[in-house]
Amino acid sequence: MKILVTGGSGMVGKYIVDELLQHHHDVGVLDLVPPKQNNVAFHKIDMLVLADVEQAMQGYDAVIHTAGIPHPLNDPAERVFHVNVNGTFNVLESAARNGIKKVVFTSSESTLGFAFMNNRMVPEYIPIDEHHPMRPQDPYGLSKVIGEQICRTYSAKYGMQTICLREPWIWVPEPEQILFYKKLVSEYGDWYKNLWTYVHVYDVAIAHRLAVECELDSLHEIFFITAKENWTGRNSKELLAQFYPEVKTFADNFKGTSAIISHEKAKRILGYEPKYLVRDLLTETE
Ligand SMILES: NC(=O)c1ccc[n+]([C@@H]2O[C@H](COP(=O)([O-])OP(=O)(O)OC[C@H]3O[C@@H](n4cnc5c(N)ncnc54)[C@H](O)[C@@H]3O)[C@@H](O)[C@H]2O)c1
Repeated sequence: MKILVTGGSGMVGKYIVDELLQHHHDVGVLDLVPPKQNNVAFHKIDMLVLADVEQAMQGYDAVIHTAGIPHPLNDPAERVFHVNVNGTFNVLESAARNGIKKVVFTSSESTLGFAFMNNRMVPEYIPIDEHHPMRPQDPYGLSKVIGEQICRTYSAKYGMQTICLREPWIWVPEPEQILFYKKLVSEYGDWYKNLWTYVHVYDVAIAHRLAVECELDSLHEIFFITAKENWTGRNSKELLAQFYPEVKTFADNFKGTSAIISHEKAKRILGYEPKYLVRDLLTETE
């Protein structure tokens, strides 16, 4: 399949490109900066310029849309919103104009609102799944909620299949990051807003490949893509009892160190089965 990856030069995008190449796809990257791989077509395009995106997309069968600002902490709110929302609009509009029938959008667990909340909220039930309310209080989470709605709209109007993958914090096997993750584990109390939820970037790359390759009847789907476990190594119910004592509704099978956000739907429909654990990352430099 000929697949265009927007943001394919970024921290996550480069692993998605590797995964697609390993599975013999013909890959192009649309980004502001060149990709690390030299066996991909590179379109040096600003996704905020619709005509350029439309032209770059010619001849592709599918698009994986990963380009964007990955959190609200380093940029002014209006920039996060503008780049993520208008960029996603331009990608979907260009896909429609090129008759492309499949777009996979890298959304985020931030649609839920916990990760960057100012005012305290608590999960309605555990584990959180795709039916949980979305209540973002920040421009990044809001931009991803709108991005998902843009996907839904284009599916409805053009019969294009859009699949939104909601990842929590994506952990990468890169030395300086691993040192940081090791420190985090001992400071887990500071990270309650993240619900101690992560996913290994290799699993994220596999999930994107599964989403772009899958044949589903439904035109629009949303999936959480999480690891099996929380990243602390501690019992998940005990973490919740300590930091979210208001939560009283638990699934019967929620046990041990299970992830607080479930990937059960992705497992059932996409065949996504996370392979990597925190210990795979934390032992990487030892
Ligand atoms: N990093 C995480 O933990 C995480 C978690 C959940 C979701 N996500 C999502 O994954 C995606 C990738 O995140 P990342 O961590 O790799 O970020 P990143 O900043 O490393 O990569 C983003 C890429 O998008 C490109 N880009 C930005 N603006 C562009 C524009 N106007 N035109 C063309 N290209 C542009 C950048 O050059 C960069 O290569 C984002 O959509 C992010 O919201 C990331």
